[in-house]
Amino acid sequence: MSYIVKNNLMKVLFVCLGNICRSPTAEGVFKHFVEAEGLSGFIISDSAGTSGHHDGGQADSRSRHHAELRGYQLASISRQIRANDFFDFDLILTMDDSNFDKVIRFANEIDANTDKVKKFTSYCRIHQINEVPDPYYKGHDGFEEVLDIIEDGCRSLLNGIKLNLKK
Ligand code: 4NP
Repeated sequence: MSYIVKNNLMKVLFVCLGNICRSPTAEGVFKHFVEAEGLSGFIISDSAGTSGHHDGGQADSRSRHHAELRGYQLASISRQIRANDFFDFDLILTMDDSNFDKVIRFANEIDANTDKVKKFTSYCRIHQINEVPDPYYKGHDGFEEVLDIIEDGCRSLLNGIKLNLKK
């Protein structure tokens, strides 16, 4: 996958429904990978929800717990996606088909470029799936499964971006 990297800076927004489970996990894992490679000055990430239902809240305690077991800190505070995100970010990665449809609809309403909206799972190499399953009503296995999928996608996303950065 190739990327258009402007000013040698790549800004990635991860989007799910509530911005308390999947997209904060993606943001935390991705930031960890980026920092480990010393690329924090070149690759910036954030996360948001299609719903504002959990606005101002921390990531779900189960997501934080399972992430911490793998060495990731989830520090994000929930917020809803906003019009400026389509101009501020280079890539907007949605977790499931419903998130994707809502984000595309929103982009069309405000005449924003939909090319930068992609499905997160399209970056996965190990998992051949279309969606990151919503773990909210699931048990521990659901949160572990989300982490497995997100590590897979974030690893290949970062590898792809690195190829397009000048260092
Ligand atoms: P997320 O998970 O979209 O991965 O943050 C959910 C969080 C909250 C709800 C559903 C999914 N909810 O129904 O409140």
